[in-house]
Amino acid sequence: LKDIKILAIESSCDETAAAVVVNGREALSNVISSQIDLHTLYGGVVPEIASRKHIENINYVIEKALRDSKCTLDDIDAIGVTYGPGLVGALLVGVAEAKAIAFAKNIPLVGVHHIEGHICANYVDNKDLKPPFVCLVVSGGHTHLVVVEDYGKYRILGKTRDDAAGEAFDKVARAIGLGYPGGPKIDKVSQNGNPHAYEFPRAKITGSEYDFSFSGLKSAVLNQINLATMKKETINQADIAASFQNSVVDSLVTRAMHALEETGMKKFAIAGGVASNTAVRKAFQEECSKRNIDFYRPSPVLCTDNAVMIGSAAYYEYINGTRHGWDLNAIPNLKL
Ligand code: KG4
Ligand code: ZN
Repeated sequence: LKDIKILAIESSCDETAAAVVVNGREALSNVISSQIDLHTLYGGVVPEIASRKHIENINYVIEKALRDSKCTLDDIDAIGVTYGPGLVGALLVGVAEAKAIAFAKNIPLVGVHHIEGHICANYVDNKDLKPPFVCLVVSGGHTHLVVVEDYGKYRILGKTRDDAAGEAFDKVARAIGLGYPGGPKIDKVSQNGNPHAYEFPRAKITGSEYDFSFSGLKSAVLNQINLATMKKETINQADIAASFQNSVVDSLVTRAMHALEETGMKKFAIAGGVASNTAVRKAFQEECSKRNIDFYRPSPVLCTDNAVMIGSAAYYEYINGTRHGWDLNAIPNLKL
């Protein structure tokens, strides 16, 4: 059987990324050009700046991904590209680039859902993982509890009603003066904090046991800070961070374990930027081993945005027959 090589492109937010992936499981290259330093100046991602940086960087990133993989475009079987969800101007750069290459070289074009990409990162780092399994996707824009029924076949059990988990990390980090990007910073300072110093809420949504809500938690943290300021008390940044993180971890673990019990599934995976969080990984490892559940997670670099995950998702779409035409467009609110 001939190997299928996919050149994958990802530009949905603030990383310009390209990779060459073989048979959905093996990365021959993984190039990520991060714009974080630039957006840090503004305390968050500025969409137009992101688009402009993507267009400046994208050819270099693709050139390097091909060079690192020792491939030329003639070796490539399909171009995979994220076409949603994400920032429209950022997505358009990747989509236009993918279409241009596919058109010029007459290579099949496969549009990929960004969240499907996050889930598929698990296939690259866990060669034995096959559907069905339960997956929790926790990123800056999404918090989805999903049953992966088959390759490319997803059933959403629950999602967030307000902020995404990563968004909560970013907002709380800003409030306690840690700055952007919040997730990795809270992760780090929490290691010196007491997770039980503050009792922050774990929101439950009546009638939908699998849905999440993080905006109340964010408000509780803000109230705590305001209260301390009013009383002229100093806040312990590490304790606040650790207690906040503990509340997020609790909310994630409770719902995921409930889903495993209800579905009877014995395999569980995490994905997305927040899946690189030390406390999240540790808590799920412990809870899964208690219950004899096989726990899968991508390495931290494949948790945050990258193109390897897009190459994996594109492969499974490709062998299922998915092909996109020259009318492929960016869809900022694309549904899974
Ligand atoms: O998956 P991702 O790279 O992009 C989106 O698709 O959104 O996720 C980015 C999010 C950000 O909110 C970031 O703060 C969070 O993931 N994040 C983390 C960690 N690393 C990244 N959150 C908690 N702990 C981390 N170590
Ligand atoms: Zn992402």
